[in-house]
Amino acid sequence: MTARLLDGRAIAAAIRESVLPDVHAFTARAGRPPGLGIVLVGEDPSSEIYVRNKVRAGTESGLWVDLQRLPADASLDALLALVSRLNASDAHDGILVQSPLPSAMGKSAAQQVFDAIDPAKDVDGFHPVNVGRLVQGRAHLMPCTPSGVIEMLTRNHIPIGGTRAVVIGRSEIVGKPMAMLLLQRDATVTICHSKTPDLPAVAASADILVSAIGRPGFVTPAFVKPGATVIDVGISTVTDASIASRLFAEGSARLADFTRRGSVIVGDVHPSVADVAGALSPVPGGVGPLTIAMLLKNTVTAAQARLPV
Ligand code: GUN
Repeated sequence: MTARLLDGRAIAAAIRESVLPDVHAFTARAGRPPGLGIVLVGEDPSSEIYVRNKVRAGTESGLWVDLQRLPADASLDALLALVSRLNASDAHDGILVQSPLPSAMGKSAAQQVFDAIDPAKDVDGFHPVNVGRLVQGRAHLMPCTPSGVIEMLTRNHIPIGGTRAVVIGRSEIVGKPMAMLLLQRDATVTICHSKTPDLPAVAASADILVSAIGRPGFVTPAFVKPGATVIDVGISTVTDASIASRLFAEGSARLADFTRRGSVIVGDVHPSVADVAGALSPVPGGVGPLTIAMLLKNTVTAAQARLPV
């Protein structure tokens, strides 16, 4: 079997297009565009790329995007003071603090920062109030990557209700909210993690398999029921030639890419899964663009809710 490729770029473009009239209406009514504050602490290379893409996409969609940078050695107090200033600002409708934070800030820093963001401006959907609302099925602002995956499934007419779904990874950002969203759409959901016994067999029971662990090529054909839908949320940069040659066939375009640049972006799903799955979201070009589209949508939702009635 050759899997149908699920094109995240096309769906993201459609979502971004659908947001434009709301951006224009908000701007006309409020006398200013929806405002998104993005905070980047330090210079993590992956975060630099993610944030650059978020700033570009937001600006292209007519938002005001305010990128606030702090040095890698900034204190947690300085970051919390910045969040507090953005909470109080009338021009910022959404706030996003890019994770991971520098490890010197301490283990619980991200949680403290997410807790400090005004839930009404929490366009990541990470604040406990928004997590609680999500669990109760009455979310206002939902985490962007899992809601992007739901868009990818529904817009490709892939049924969720009555299916078996397996999510590999239990992060607060993807795994847990992903499982909740699938459950709310009547899938029977299993969450797998590093201590799950016989993980390949559990994964192979899935009609919909979502992997979000960030381990290049971890999901092999042994994890996949023939015809299943496989959604690859992992994004890793591979610089090790032995890993690249384990993933990509001799003579393939991706291996040639690696040889030319010295690195390649890969997902959790081994390319040979395309021979077994019925549908597959690629990396790059799958879930990544959808995450950004959902961020723009959340920012407009947050902005509209802040308008006086
Ligand atoms: N780091 C990786 N993904 C995300 C995300 O969706 N939001 C934030 N704030 N940081 C991230």
